Parts: sequence; C-alpha cells; structure tokens
Amino acid sequence: MTDERITDPDAASGEEETDRALRPRTLDGFVGQETARRQLGIFLEAAKNRDEALDHVLLAGPPGLGKTSLARIVANEMGVGFHPTSGPVLERKGDLAAVLTALEPRDVLFVDEIHRLGRAIEEVLYPAMEDYEIDVVLGQGPAARTLRLDLPPFTLVGATTRTGLLSAPLLGRFGVVQRLDYYTHDDLARIVTRSGRLLELDVDPDGAAAIASRARGTPRIVNRLLRRVRDVAQVEGHPRVTHDVAMRALDLLEVDALGLEEIDRRILRALAETFEGRPVGLGTVADSIGEAPDTIEDVYEPYLLQEGLLVRTPRGRVATPRAYRHLGLEPPAEAPALF
Ligand SMILES: Nc1ncnc2c1ncn2[C@@H]1O[C@H](COP(=O)(O)OP(=O)(O)O)[C@@H](O)[C@H]1O
Ligand SMILES: [Mg+2]
Repeated sequence: MTDERITDPDAASGEEETDRALRPRTLDGFVGQETARRQLGIFLEAAKNRDEALDHVLLAGPPGLGKTSLARIVANEMGVGFHPTSGPVLERKGDLAAVLTALEPRDVLFVDEIHRLGRAIEEVLYPAMEDYEIDVVLGQGPAARTLRLDLPPFTLVGATTRTGLLSAPLLGRFGVVQRLDYYTHDDLARIVTRSGRLLELDVDPDGAAAIASRARGTPRIVNRLLRRVRDVAQVEGHPRVTHDVAMRALDLLEVDALGLEEIDRRILRALAETFEGRPVGLGTVADSIGEAPDTIEDVYEPYLLQEGLLVRTPRGRVATPRAYRHLGLEPPAEAPALF
C-alpha cells in the first residue's frame, strides 16, 4: 500500500480528476526543468523529422516532480500511443510480452518504478530495447520451443525515484537519462498561477508566492496545497487568494515555513529527541514513527537532505543543527564526530 503512495499520493484521495486536469500536456506547458525540457525538445524534433521512434528515456527524481507528466508529454508530442505500466505490476515474462506485442510503431511504453522490475523480466527487456525483439517460450518441459518475435520500434520511458537501484545493463540501454531536480520557488509560483487558472481560482502573485515557498520544491505538493487553500477561500468567502488567505490555510494544514509537514517534523524529532542525536538506522527511524522505510527514504528524506536538515552517515541518520533550531531545540554542544 505504501507503493501506491510513492507513485501517486493523491490517487486514493478522490482528487485524481483535478490532478489529471492540472497535468501539463505539452513540453511548452511543462514549467521549469530547463535542461530536461530543452534536451527532450531537440531529441523529439529530431526523431519526428526522421520518422523514427525516440531513443529510450530514463526519468529519475523524487516523487511529484513530473516524471509521469513528461512521459505522457513525450507520447503526445510524438503523436503516438501511450502505454503505462510499472515495475511491480510486471510480475511474469508473459505480462511484459503481452504489453510489448501490443505496441504500434513509435509508441511509448511507460514503466513507472522501473527499479522494481524483477531480474528475469529485465532480461526480456534487453533485446526488446536494443533490437526490438523478444523471445517467447511456447510449451513446457522438453517440448518447449523458443519463438523470436519482432517488435515495432518503440520508446521505453522509465521512471525511477532511485537511479542507484538500476542495474548497469538496464541503465546502459537508455539513450537519454534526465534527472529532475526540486523546483525553484519562482517555477512553483508559475505552476500555482497556471493551476489557479485551470481551476478558475483567482490567485494573486503574493498568494502564489506564499504557497510556492512551502511546497518543498514539488509541483504535486504545490497543487495539493493550492486545492486546500481553495477550500479555505471558498468556505471563508474570499473571491481572491491573497497572501493572507494562503498563509491562514497553510497554518491550518500545519505546513511550516520550510514546507515541512507533521510527518517530516516527526522524523527530525525522533532523531533529535528520541534518539538524542545518536546516528540511527533507517529501519529504526521508520519503526519509531510508524512509516515504511521505503516511504521515508523515497518520499521524505530527499527533501530533508537537500535542505540540510538531515545527513546520512555510515552509521545512520543524524539531524543537523539546522534541524534542531527549526524544531526550536538546542543543537547538541558537540557536533557528533561523524560530520
Ligand atoms: N513541470 C511541471 N509543470 C506543471 N505542473 C507539473 C509539472 N510537473 C509536475 N506537475 C504537476 O504535478 C503533478 C505530479 O506530477 P507527476 O508527473 O505525476 O510526478 P511524478 O511522476 O514524478 O511523481 C502532475 O499531475 C502535474 O499536475
Ligand atoms: Mg509518477
């Protein structure tokens, strides 16, 4: 069940509809990530001009930064079909063979959480990616025969929260690897303005900036906060989202000045208070706050690391002095020897 959240935290909350409505559909509508956008734009145009499938693309980065959106954009810009699946869903070789043989020329096969693909499945993928071929085994035992099938040229777009977990042979078969980074406040404010327009909500620039500054660099979070701010504006009868309205809503949601939510603060408090600043293993942190280790590592930690609130040492996780001060605690007099 944590897997669901990693892929799409909003999926279960009945907000899929608005989420879909807010998804950019073209490269031009995709805000920020200049490098990824510029490079993909060139590769797309070149492939289109040559009437070829785009080379296989790997998109890496924390949840909510736009990997799925970009994968859809690639298909949309190429004017081809989009076939989404995910690592954990492809359990048997036959599953993958079924998906691959259904592809039309130049279609996009999107494999979310590709780092969770089983090894045996991965091996079916190699010749498919490289030579557009798969071997299908017919029958069983001594009578089994292998049949080689040709596939149309297609584009595999893989998404992963952790490039480090991909095997070298798989990684090597992607012609394009794009890492998405956390968004700047300016880019997030542009996303708020864009989403406000799509939701027919009047957000003034200060309101947008306030929401953007607390969204942990993440478009999915900025859109989620915007929807909650919209609720507050609606219930309180404000026609316009001003800085004031935004701040009140954010306080109500217990999103603090760094954009941390209660769960982030619980992680930091566990390190600083419960474990008194000692280095702590991921599993122990997870147990103490009742979350899955994977969720902590994929969803919460990347931002805490990037903000310099937490460090990973060989002996475990440690809260930094900045984290102590943010929690209103006194940092330990002696920095632990591991910094
Ligand atoms: N660059 C962007 N510009 C505008 N909106 C974005 C952008 N990236 C993501 N979003 C919004 O954030 C939501 C989550 O993005 P998604 O592509 O599902 O992220 P990921 O697959 O990396 O978890 C999307 O529904 C979309 O509304
Ligand atoms: Mg996704």
